[in-house]
Amino acid sequence: MHLCVVDPADEAAVAALHRIYVTVGRADDPEAFVAAPVEEILECLREPTARFAFTAFLGLEDGEAVASGWCALALADAPQLAYATPRVLPEFRRRGYGSRVLAAMERHAGAHGRTCLQSLAVWSADHGPDGSGSAPAGFAAAHGFGLAKANIRLRLELPSDPARLDALLGERAAGRVGYTTRAWVGPVPAELLPGWAVLHAVLSADEPHGALERPEETSNPNTIRDDERILARSGQVKVNAAVLSPAGETVAYSSISTRIGSPEAAFLRGTVVHRGHRGLGLGALAKVQALRLLERTRPDISAVITENDQENTHILELNRAMGFLPVLYSGAFQKHIGASAAS
Ligand SMILES: CC(C)(COP(=O)(O)OP(=O)(O)OC[C@H]1O[C@@H](n2cnc3c(N)ncnc32)[C@H](O)[C@@H]1OP(=O)(O)O)[C@@H](O)C(=O)NCCC(=O)NCCS
Repeated sequence: MHLCVVDPADEAAVAALHRIYVTVGRADDPEAFVAAPVEEILECLREPTARFAFTAFLGLEDGEAVASGWCALALADAPQLAYATPRVLPEFRRRGYGSRVLAAMERHAGAHGRTCLQSLAVWSADHGPDGSGSAPAGFAAAHGFGLAKANIRLRLELPSDPARLDALLGERAAGRVGYTTRAWVGPVPAELLPGWAVLHAVLSADEPHGALERPEETSNPNTIRDDERILARSGQVKVNAAVLSPAGETVAYSSISTRIGSPEAAFLRGTVVHRGHRGLGLGALAKVQALRLLERTRPDISAVITENDQENTHILELNRAMGFLPVLYSGAFQKHIGASAAS
């Protein structure tokens, strides 16, 4: 196999990279895979974002692209971390290609001073919460990675059940007097951005992260605008809801990403409530408002996908109460690499 780094100006290479990503995603996650469009991949490769510098690798066998590697070096907040995802077309597995792509990414990460590698993967429910017997778990173990965080992916078929959502909203309504909601499609309005950025950092700090090394994210409106720029340039748009306290601060949000003009499943990206306002059902309120706006504005979309930590019982219960059903497991594998990888 010939291995090369993908030049973002090489359209055929970027298209081949995207093809492998979509083929592997659909093969391993037929019910819940939501493909990022090729433009998003291209946008990431063209210039670093505030948080990541991306590099892609392509493995060619007789001129045909059969394997890929997607490597993101974390920047500012986590200079020790790199995320590395090897992908091999199903019919070319167990020939050592995945190992070669991973080795190239390990060298790349080591050469840039990274000491901790993380890799995300999915496996079907038959392999259980820890993935025993699945390809990613076997591959990760063979390369010295341990499972550091286990998630569950869930799917909600649309239209949702209005009575179920009403019942959920009714539960703690009395405690929410004076709180108001705003829901919109597109970027976060400027007046809500500082509060939204604070909540984004709270989400990253408070979501369970198992044994994963994680960056301490600081509140930074630029990272929110960065994500929005990538989404916009790749034909995606967010459907959002925010909850404002009686004093007018943004204290909760929920955000769902959709593809413009495509009925593919939408992805519920994150829901968070400010620490001082928990226990009032504001997470449920934000989620339901975002979902209702999605259903009003995009009746063509037939499902929403989300992902939760397996230990995050509170949010799992909330998602199940909305009608989400588990479809498969996913997890993050982690390995520490020494200085020798940099040579
Ligand atoms: C995981 C993946 C990249 C492995 O690619 P691959 O080219 O088949 O891997 P290799 O041939 O280099 O395998 C190296 C070793 O990993 C282990 N391994 C790989 N696939 C395995 C499986 N299905 N079951 C158990 N162990 C496995 C074995 O020890 C194997 O060595 P062996 O073939 O000599 O027994 C591939 O299955 C894939 O693309 N999966 C979907 C994407 C993904 O999950 N990526 C993240 C991985 S953490």
